[in-house]
Parts: sequence; structure tokens; C-alpha cells
Amino acid sequence: MRSQLPVTFRINGGGKYSLAMRDRMEKDLFSKLGSAEEYVNEAGEKAAKPFALPWYPDRLAWQLSYSRNVLRKVPQLADVHAFIVRENDKGNITRQEAVSMVPPLMLDVQVGDRVLDMCAAPGSKTFQMLEAIHKNGVDKMTSGLVMANDVDAQRCGLLTHQTSRFSSSNMIVVQHEAQDFPRLQEPERNSGKHIMFDRILADVPCTGDGTLRKAPDIWVRWNHNQALGIHPLQARITLRGCELLKVGGRLVYSTCSLNPIEDEAVLAEILRSTNYAMQLVDVSDLFPELKRCPGITKWTVNDRAGRIASYEEAQKGNDPKRRSIIKRSHFPPTEEEAAKMHLERSMRYLPHHNDTGGFFVAVLEKVCEIGHDAEMGAHLSNTAARKRKEKVDGAKSNDEGDDADDAPAKKQKLEGGSSAPVPVLGREEGRRHHRGIDPVVAVTSDAVHSQLKRFYGISSSIDLSTSLMTRNLDAELPKRIYYLSDAAKRVLEADPTGDLKVIATGVKVFERQEAKDADPKNSCSYRVVQEGLYVLLPHMTKQVVTASLMEMRKLLHMRSCRKESFENHVRDQLTNPALGKGCVVLKFDPKLEASDKEEGEVSVINLNDPIFEAGGCAICCWMGEAALSLLCDKVYAAMVLEKLGGPPPQEVIDRCVADKAKAKEEMEKAAANGAAVETAVAT
Ligand SMILES: C[S@@+](CC[C@H](N)C(=O)[O-])C[C@H]1O[C@@H](n2cnc3c(N)ncnc32)[C@H](O)[C@@H]1O
Repeated sequence: MRSQLPVTFRINGGGKYSLAMRDRMEKDLFSKLGSAEEYVNEAGEKAAKPFALPWYPDRLAWQLSYSRNVLRKVPQLADVHAFIVRENDKGNITRQEAVSMVPPLMLDVQVGDRVLDMCAAPGSKTFQMLEAIHKNGVDKMTSGLVMANDVDAQRCGLLTHQTSRFSSSNMIVVQHEAQDFPRLQEPERNSGKHIMFDRILADVPCTGDGTLRKAPDIWVRWNHNQALGIHPLQARITLRGCELLKVGGRLVYSTCSLNPIEDEAVLAEILRSTNYAMQLVDVSDLFPELKRCPGITKWTVNDRAGRIASYEEAQKGNDPKRRSIIKRSHFPPTEEEAAKMHLERSMRYLPHHNDTGGFFVAVLEKVCEIGHDAEMGAHLSNTAARKRKEKVDGAKSNDEGDDADDAPAKKQKLEGGSSAPVPVLGREEGRRHHRGIDPVVAVTSDAVHSQLKRFYGISSSIDLSTSLMTRNLDAELPKRIYYLSDAAKRVLEADPTGDLKVIATGVKVFERQEAKDADPKNSCSYRVVQEGLYVLLPHMTKQVVTASLMEMRKLLHMRSCRKESFENHVRDQLTNPALGKGCVVLKFDPKLEASDKEEGEVSVINLNDPIFEAGGCAICCWMGEAALSLLCDKVYAAMVLEKLGGPPPQEVIDRCVADKAKAKEEMEKAAANGAAVETAVAT
């Protein structure tokens, strides 16, 4: 317990590229590390070489046998440290505690699943679930969706940042109290169906006593009342999850606490109050290399004043604090209940099992609808049970201050609405407005659609008129335009009254930027944004210039090259009058690779590398009068350049630099001549 946690990380992506990166990392980095004797950990023990966590699929999660401190200080590990920092910054790997990777694995998310992550920030588990729905590649359409929620605005920001590295259009970040997560109606309103989820993760807030190795100060602050106090919230959040789960769906409950009040007691309350519509799943055969012990069925309940034998005893006593904090659901189940519950199917991960922090995970399945007479959360407290019942029955809620008054109106609207589909994300009268959060508005302007289609030659294989949205009310002239998958759109359409507080959704595909002196018949007010290029490229028939590897490397290294600096194939395309000024996509064409090589030169690149798959290697550029310049940022350009084999040979760079210098000289000369002529005319 006193030793520091080893560094663990996951290679992001889950696609072929992540496997290629794993192989390169092993070959170029880890195999070059010296013998284990060279390194010792804090306890003076010899550290083993990095190893793939044996239970994680495809050897994509790794553990280094040293803590962050050792990694930072030992000179022989400098390359490994630099690799971890660099790849984490680039979004290729995620530093994540090993046990924290377990809940998404146990959730068993499939490509087409609709997933709700109830308490998601900062988002490492959300990221894993996104990978699961995009297992076939982020550029392949999927009906899957991840809805990630957190109550805290700032932490929602972290969540958005973390998940934006994935650029998924099948993702929605929302900000709600999970225990009151809005119930959404399927777009066909009169169907009476609600939006239900296939998979739900309830990684609930907890006291965190399992994280003692990482945060030793918890020892000092810890007391019995913390767990007693947070238990009702954990149970209510999970109960809400049960309501939103499809029959046959799976919900994973997890905490980083080993206190049974936060773990088995919460599960017992879920099973009891859903009248066993929720059941614990036996997953003991999953990931056998991952050591754990079964959940417990008996525990004692203590508060600061000592042990409490029963709920009745607490209520009879004359300690008002104890009376209010102690709930019936804190106590272990009766023997009869325990026989039905199978709490032993839940899993306790103790720090010594796998050299991790302490963690608790349980897999639940909804085996039938939750009966109307089920007293959801009855044992949490009498008031809580009444409040919940009111909510389930659809009575007015006063929890959300800013629109409480129009709740009945909204209800009527839902019930009495027409059978016509709700206008997509539309700005309807009476929609709720969340302070400080811009609404999600469909881009319906024909003028915008037609110029995008015309300039970029966007084929009918993608319907821009229904899949673009923006976050400002001026949808006629939006600044940024996002692409939304059908799966995300369907969920947003299910919220006609605007209950959802949508923090982020969609992939940014266009940003307003106009070319100076452009031909008005062949120009566009929007440029393509790199993060959304993979969505558009397969549908673009114009403004795409193909290039060999060397030309790509040249531009990525130089950031801006004069048109004359490119070899004929690229130059001809750039000077073709059909190509409009402004945004141009430079795309690697493997067919050009052979012709690009000088005699005897050996290709540095493996053309089977997954980066060269559809749309994998294309960059957004800006074409002005004389030059082509990169639009993507330096970090991104460096990343692509590295994947393509690094900077071009020095003589290629020298040629570009000389070209630029010559052009500058000529411009200066022309300017000076112009000035001389002007002076002559004036005198
Ligand atoms: C254990 S952390 C979640 C970690 C996250 N799942 C991950 O893997 O990165 C718990 C989160 O619950 C959030 N939270 C606390 N109370 C909440 C509530 N009532 N509803 C929703 N989220 C809540 C906290 O802001 C915190 O981000």
C-alpha cells in the first residue's frame, strides 16, 4: 500500500493504427531498454521491463514497473518518459489507472450500442467506450452513440477536451444531475416510446478510499460518515440508470472505494427496489488473468459514534444526526434476500491483486421491465422515495430552477404533440434555454448548403441539409458548422423542449473563412476543418489535390510552399483554373509513390500502414495567389509528418527555401521598381 502506483497507459484508437503503433513501440522503444538490473523502483526492487496487461484485449494496455517519479528521474528511461508525454499530448495514448480500464471492458459495448456514461468526467472510460462503438474505424458510419454526462460544468469541459481527441460524430456531452437525467421521447412522439440505452456506466462519485496509494491524505480525512452520506446519491444515480436501460441491457456499477456501504449496500438496494428486474451477472469467467475477490454479503454499519446494530436502533436513539444519516439500505440483506441477490457476483479489486488501486465493479442486467409498483429507492429515505415516485409518475419537478414554471406546459406539449417528426434540433418557441449554454441549431440555410456542395463538389452520398448544425442562433450565417451522425441527431430530436443541456456534440467540419480576390463564381465562405475532414473527404469531388509522399512531407515540413516548388503533378492541379482559391485538401496517393522515388532510393514508408487507408492521409490547406499553406496546427502537422517518415531530404528543403527567397527578392524588386515609377510619374 505504501509503494507508489506503477505507470499504466492505453494505446488509443482500437483500430489497425493502434496495433501498428503498439508494434513500433515494442520494437523501437521497449526492446532497446537494458536489462532489468539497471532500474530499481522506490522500494529498491529490480524493476521488470514494461509489459502488456495480460487481461487487456490486443495487448493495447501497458504497465511500466516504475512510478511516475522513477520514470522522470532515471536517465536510462528518458526515451520512455519522452514517449509517454509526447504520445499522451498527441492523443495516441491515454494514461489511465489499470483498474479504471475494467468497467468499460465489463460493459461489453458493441458497435451499434447506445451508451450512457452517467458520471463521465474526466472521461477516460468514455474514451474506451467510444473506441468500442467505432471498432470498425471512426470513418465508418455506425448507429452507436455515447452520451457522456457529468454534473460539474468545469469537469464537462475536461470531458469535452478528452473526447474531442476522438473527433466522433456519435458523441454527445451533457451536464445533468445523473439521478434526474431527463427522460427523452423517441422522435415519433406518439409512439410513447422513450429513448432507452443498451449500455450504461454508473461510475459514481465516491469517497475514493481505494485510491490511497495515489492520494495518501485520504487516510487523514477518512471517517465513517462520508460513505453513509454519499450512499443515497450513489443508489439514486444507479436507479435512474436502471430506468433508462433497455430490457436485456447491461449496467456496470463501479466505485474506487472498498467500503461495502458504497458498494454491496448500494447494489442490494438496486436489486431490492427494482424488485429484481435488475440482476447481478456472473462474469467470473471474463478476464481470468485479472485477479479479484467476490463481493461480500455481510458488513457492519458504523458512524462516527460507533457501531449501529440496526436501522430501528438508530431511529429509536436520541441522536438526531444519526437518525437522519442512517438509512435502512445501509444494512446488509437478510439471509433470504442475500440468497436471491448474489452479491458475491460483484468484484472487489484489492491493491495487491494486480498492483493497482482498490476498485469495485458489478455487472447488472435488466431482465424485465421494472414494475410500476416497485418502490424505487424506498429504503434510502421516506422523502427520497416520495420524490422519486413523483418523478416517475411525471409530476412537476422543482429541482431545476430556471424553468420550473413552464414544466406543465412542456408536459402538455409532449403528450399532446402532433405525430409529425419534431423539426430537427429546431429553434422552437418555448424551448428551454440553459443559461450560458448555446442551443444546438440545425443549419437549414439553402445558401450555405448550395455553396458547400458547389465548391467542394459534395456528392449526394451525404445529406448536408439534415446533418449539419451550429451552436449560434445565426444559423443563416454560422461561424462554425458541425456534422452530426444520425444516431446523435435522433437523440437530440427526442428533446423537443430542450431539456438536455448539451455541452458538446458533433464533429467540426467547416469554419467561416473567405478567400481574398477569389472568383465569386468559384469561391466559398467556409473552409474544411482538419478534425472533420475524414467525414467529408469520401464525399468530396472537388478541391482535392493528390500528391506523392515526398510532396506531402515537403509541405508538412515547410508549412507553406510556392506553387512552383511542387513537382509537375501537383503544380498542374494547383494551377488548373477549375480549382478555386481558398481551401484545398492535399491527399496522399499511393500510386504516385513509385514514380516519386529517385533511382536506388528505398522507401521509408510501409504502404500497408493503416494510416494510408481511406482518407487516412490528407491535410487541409489554403491556396492563395502564389502558395499553398497548411491550415492544420503545428502539433498535428508534426504527427502526420512523423507517420509519413519525417522531413524530406535536406536538398528538397534547400530547394524550397531558395524558391521562397527568390520569390521574396523578386517581390521586393517589383515593389521598389513600382515605387521608382511612381516617384518618376510624380516628379
Ligand atoms: C468517479 S468520477 C468519474 C470518473 C470518470 N468516469 C472517468 O473514468 O474519468 C465521478 C464523477 O461524478 C461526477 N458527479 C458527482 N455527482 C454527480 C451527479 N449527481 N450527477 C452526475 N455526475 C456527478 C463528478 O463530477 C465526477 O466527475
